[in-house]
Parts: sequence; structure tokens; C-alpha cells
Amino acid sequence: MKLIAPSILSADFKELSNQIRYAEIGGADIIHCDIMDGSFVPNITFGPLIVEAVKRSTKLPIDCHLMIDNPQNFIGHFAKAGADYISVHQENVNHLYRVIEQIKSYDVKAGVVLNPATPVETLECVIDVIDFVLIMAVNPGFEGQKFINSSLEKIMKLNKIRKENSQNFLIEIDGGINRDNIKNISDLGCDIFVAGSAIFRSDNISAATAELKNLITI
Ligand code: DX5
Ligand code: ZN
Repeated sequence: MKLIAPSILSADFKELSNQIRYAEIGGADIIHCDIMDGSFVPNITFGPLIVEAVKRSTKLPIDCHLMIDNPQNFIGHFAKAGADYISVHQENVNHLYRVIEQIKSYDVKAGVVLNPATPVETLECVIDVIDFVLIMAVNPGFEGQKFINSSLEKIMKLNKIRKENSQNFLIEIDGGINRDNIKNISDLGCDIFVAGSAIFRSDNISAATAELKNLITI
């Protein structure tokens, strides 16, 4: 199953619920929420209050990508706000196994995110217990950046590990996804495609969503 996850980071927040609806009309599968704290990443976005409003704007599952320090202190807040997927970064969690269990205790899908400089091997001890791996193809913090090609190798490695061990974690990619690269990334075994600027900075949000979705479903 291939899923498109528009990132509202690139949306016009004055029109947020309409913009989400346009993405939904275009075939979006998941709404991706980028949570940034100005400490782990050099940008600040929004917290559970907005996630809760997004939840009321759509029936689609909500994916909360936590780019914050001490994410363990906020898992419950995002779960209660309506998150269906929550991911935390490998790089800033001391007790990753515990945080994964914490996310799952809310009946939320648990993911771990890898920055461009973090190898997939760092997940060896938790890969059995996570629902998805999120590969950052840009340095987290901002929309509209260029796709970092070494991410392709990571997707191939994860797909191989998954096959060899008959595991069923999903592989998600985030950053720099567009109409020119999405098909190739899909063919390497990626399942969930986050796209911010390629969807919300286009002239027609529904058409841009549909175009990306068609490229991975054909
Ligand atoms: C970056 C965020 C991404 C971002 C993607 O830190 O995690 O989700 O919104 O934006 P694009 O698709 O424009 O690279
Ligand atoms: Zn993200």
C-alpha cells in the first residue's frame, strides 16, 4: 500500500481546514504535522492545539513528526490531540525503546526518524518493535529543500532488512519529494511519501496531490 502524506508545514494556515480538504479531495491518505521546538531544529511550528484542530478538519489519520527535545514529555498530549502515528528522532532520545512503548500504549503507531547523517544500523535493536521508520531526505526544520540522495540507499537497506526478516514496518520518506523523484523512490520499497511544498505551494492542491498519488500507484 502506497500512501501520500501532505505536510501542512507548507500550507496557508489562514485557510488550513480548506487546504486539508483540497488535499483530501486529491487523494491524500494521511495528514503529516511537523512539530518543531526551536531547539532540536532551528524553527518553531505548532503544538497539540493545532493538531487537535487538524483532527477536527479531516477524517484522515494524523501523523505527528516530533522534531522536539524531550519528546517523551509530549507523547500523551499529541495522542490525546488525535495523532494516529507519532515519530520521534533517533538522535535526541536517550531511551528510545521506552518512548516507543510509550507511544504504543496510546494505541498510536510508533515510528523512529533518522536524520540524513544517521545510519539505518542505529535502529537494529528496535526495528522489531516499531511500526514505521521515517527517513529524512533533508535536514529537518524547513520545507522546500533539496532531496539528499544518500536517503535512497537507506530505503534500499531497510527494504532488504524487512524482506530478509519477514518484518512489516513501513518505510516513510520526508523532504524534497516531488513529481520527478517519487516514482523512483517508490520502486525502491518506500511506502509513505510526505510532501509539503510539492502539494501546498502548487496552484492546485487537489491536482498536485492526485498527480503524486498516480505516480506511485501505477
Ligand atoms: C522538514 C519537514 C518536512 C517538510 C517537507 O523538517 O519534516 O515534513 O514539511 O517539505 P518539502 O516536501 O517541501 O520538502
Ligand atoms: Zn516531517
